[in-house]
Parts: sequence; structure tokens; C-alpha cells
Amino acid sequence: MRANRAPLALEDVEIDGPGPGEVLLRTAASGICHSDLHVIEGDLPVPPPCILGHEPAGVVLAVGEGVADFAPGDHVIGCLTSWCGVCRFCTEGRPYLCLTQFAGRPPGARPRLAGPGGDPIAQFANLSSFAERMLCPERSLVKIRDDMPLDRASLIGCGVTTGLGAALNTVRIPAGASVVVIGCGGVGLAAIQGARIVGAGRIVAVDAQPWKLDLARALGATHAVDATAGDPVAAVHALTGGGADFAFECIGLVSTVLQTVAMTGRGGTAVLVGVVPIAQTVPISAADLTLQEKKITGSYMGSNRFRFDMPRYVDFYLDGRLRLDEMISSRIPLDEVNEAFDRMRAGSAARQVIVFD
Ligand SMILES: NC(=O)c1ccc[n+]([C@@H]2O[C@H](COP(=O)([O-])OP(=O)(O)OC[C@H]3O[C@@H](n4cnc5c(N)ncnc54)[C@H](O)[C@@H]3O)[C@@H](O)[C@H]2O)c1
Ligand SMILES: [Zn+2]
Ligand SMILES: [Zn+2]
Repeated sequence: MRANRAPLALEDVEIDGPGPGEVLLRTAASGICHSDLHVIEGDLPVPPPCILGHEPAGVVLAVGEGVADFAPGDHVIGCLTSWCGVCRFCTEGRPYLCLTQFAGRPPGARPRLAGPGGDPIAQFANLSSFAERMLCPERSLVKIRDDMPLDRASLIGCGVTTGLGAALNTVRIPAGASVVVIGCGGVGLAAIQGARIVGAGRIVAVDAQPWKLDLARALGATHAVDATAGDPVAAVHALTGGGADFAFECIGLVSTVLQTVAMTGRGGTAVLVGVVPIAQTVPISAADLTLQEKKITGSYMGSNRFRFDMPRYVDFYLDGRLRLDEMISSRIPLDEVNEAFDRMRAGSAARQVIVFD
């Protein structure tokens, strides 16, 4: 990314060797997440030049000093919530909130990535997976089973962990609870699957693209609402008897955050998963929350402990409970990444995966 709101450029860059605690990887596959598009659009502040991509699976090529958990040939998934292990959030059991997750190399060290002439190129979230090689902290990686296909494994790196984890970790949906998921992209489809896996009752999918609703039904939604056909809030109220126990916003728009809170029933919880552009605010009725005791919570990266969660999600896939094949709408080479973002803007893709040779 040489500039915001412009196509990504395909360039040769320098990648350093693995320093202490680092791992060099061959990228096998990288899913494309809407958060990458938020960065391009300037809605998440990451200044260029930067190599995007944060939903990877790969194979270890070499490890740096002190790396004990990985060896060349290991299959791994990368996750943007690197953890330090000693800060107050890591030690209290919420490593996804680690205070130093984006610390990078120590001050004064060579950059992990550099352009021609040695100018540093920022690494996105310690990963930068829109590239044939990655140089990552070992604490951004988890080893997975060799029998897990790496293109499907990549989805677990962000979207699946975010959506599934919102359901399983952030709010722990009890069996039988009613659920609505607004937005059926990679993240929303994973939240729907999380609701199905824990045995939720009604699972209502909402999207503006009718074909996504068919996919949502195939992955576990019991009901579907076309957001472009009438008032989706009224439709969800009718289906859930006055609002859902849990409502997940998986888009990141002010309008759909307001709809999500309105779709949340008495005593229910609205879960904000989509990232609203950082400069925008949402006018929410406080009385609506107080008088109905509604809760609103954010959910960051599925409240993950990814070294524990991701191998479990791999098992869910391999035993048939988590469906990833259906979520992949296309596999593309790296040089089609800009077309992939056009499809994401148009809403005409589910998950798109860059596959490397
Ligand atoms: N909280 C986190 O940690 C976290 C992690 C990953 C992604 N995200 C965010 O989650 C959001 C979703 O990501 P994604 O990759 O699934 O995106 P996506 O673009 O694949 O999916 C968005 C979906 O919303 C639908 N949609 C758009 N406008 C709509 C409207 N007005 N009404 C109903 N449906 C509408 C689209 O048709 C599409 O299916 C993004 O904001 C992304 O940045 C958050
Ligand atoms: Zn993401
Ligand atoms: Zn920490």
C-alpha cells in the first residue's frame, strides 16, 4: 500500500532474516478481510507504505534464536493478536488485549521489511501476508495439524476466529438463545456457525445480498432477512418475539450498529464486531439500554487465546462441524488482489483467498 484510497502495488521488497523470537515463513494462503480494506480507505489509521494482509497460513522456513515452539516444515496459522505473556491483560487471561501486541522489533533494529534502497516498509499487525514470505514474532503464530488444508486454515487466522470467538468466547451464547447476525461476510458467516455449534435456537441472518442469505442458511441460519426488502428491525422483531437475546453487528456501519441495538431484545446483548470508521460516532438511546437492561459489548478478534482456540477450530473443520469450503467464494493469485477488493466493495464475494504456489 503506497497510498490510501489507491490500488495496491505489486513490488519486490527485502525481508530480513529471523531475529530472536522470530520465524520466517513461506506464505501458503491469505484470506482477504474487510479490515484490510478499511486500512486502504483510511478508516483504520495505518500509514503507507505498508504491506497488508493479516489472515494467513504458511509453512515455517527458518527460526531465530530462542524459538522453541516451531521448526522448519511446521504448518502454522498467523494471528494479529500477538501477546507478550507478562502484561496485566496477558496474565489475567485476556492475551488478545495485550498492551504491546504491535510493538514490533526493538527501537534501532533493522526493519523486518524494506523497499529498494532500504526504506522501511511497515508490517501490518506483525504479519503482512499479501506476500510470498512473512517474518513474524513466534507469538503471532500457532502450529496446526499437517492434515489441515492451508487455504482453509488461513480463514481461521482472522475472520473465523473473530466470528466464532464472538459467539463462543465474548458472550458465550447459551443453548437455545435467539441470535441475529447482521452482515454475512467472512466474519458474519463464522458468527452464524458459532451460534449453530453452541446450539442456539433461532439464528437469523441479515444481509443486503440475497445470495449471501442462501449461504447463511446453508451454514446454519434458521431464518434470513433481506435488509433491502422493508425494515429489517421489524422483521427481526417478528421472528424473535420482540428482539434477539444476542445481536452481532458484523459490517461496521453507523446505520447497522443502530439496527443491531434495535434488534436486541429486553435483557439482550448487542455485540459490535464490525469496525466503524474510527472518526465516526453512533448516537445510541441511553434510555433504551437502561429501561430494557440491554448490554452493548465490543468483541475484538473473537476474544481469542489463539494458541488454544485455533487448533480447536481446525478440529471443528476436520470433524465436519465448521464449514470452511462453502465460505471460500474464490481462490486467486496475488496479482488479482485489487480486483478482489473491488468485489468486496460490491458485496459480491464471501471469503476470497490468495493462494501462493
Ligand atoms: N472485531 C474484530 O476484531 C474484527 C476482526 C475482523 C474483521 N472485523 C470487521 O468486521 C467487519 C466485517 O468483515 P468481513 O471481512 O466479514 O466483511 P465483508 O465485506 O466480507 O462482509 C460484510 C457483509 O455486510 C453486508 N452488508 C453491507 N452493507 C449492509 C447493509 N447495509 N445491510 C446489511 N448487510 C450489509 C455485505 O453484503 C457483506 O456480506 C468489517 O468491519 C471488519 O473490519 C472486525
Ligand atoms: Zn481481519
Ligand atoms: Zn501482554
